[in-house]
Amino acid sequence: MALRPILIAPDPRLKRHSEPVGAVDDGVRQLVADMFDTMYAAPGVGLAAIQIGLPRQVIVIDLQREDAPRQPLALINPVILSRSPVTTAREEGCLSLPEQFAEVIRAAAIAVRFLDREGEVRTLVAEGALATCIQHEVDHLDGVLFVDHISPVKRSIILRKLVKARRHQTLAPA
Ligand code: NI
Repeated sequence: MALRPILIAPDPRLKRHSEPVGAVDDGVRQLVADMFDTMYAAPGVGLAAIQIGLPRQVIVIDLQREDAPRQPLALINPVILSRSPVTTAREEGCLSLPEQFAEVIRAAAIAVRFLDREGEVRTLVAEGALATCIQHEVDHLDGVLFVDHISPVKRSIILRKLVKARRHQTLAPA
């Protein structure tokens, strides 16, 4: 089990674009395992590799409640094939924006193509919270955070809070 430190906004590395994975090998499977460990420990429901500083197109998701059996979903090189014209608004958070939440409007349903941990091509049609989560995580691969979807005023309030929280943490006695 390996936990990786999670980058916190406004870290400029979160703005980077992630590159596709060439081949799903043991190195990639180890990265996926570390990302699940890191996400579950946080705890969170989704994590993109760029959030641990690696600009690679790998995301992990598990929307199960903590007291339910785990349902890990790893998506490598995900591509959103289609988005429903119907939208939905859900409150989102992000491990890179701790304790910050905002309502974001996204497609209510999507189809996504990706490679699984065995390197097999899969297509998944998702709706509800899973559709929201996949769109949120795929955004990370393009350097986009959920706050980029809300008003500039709300965004700057959230980012200011994060900078302030970090400053307090740095100054706090050990
Ligand atoms: Ni996020």
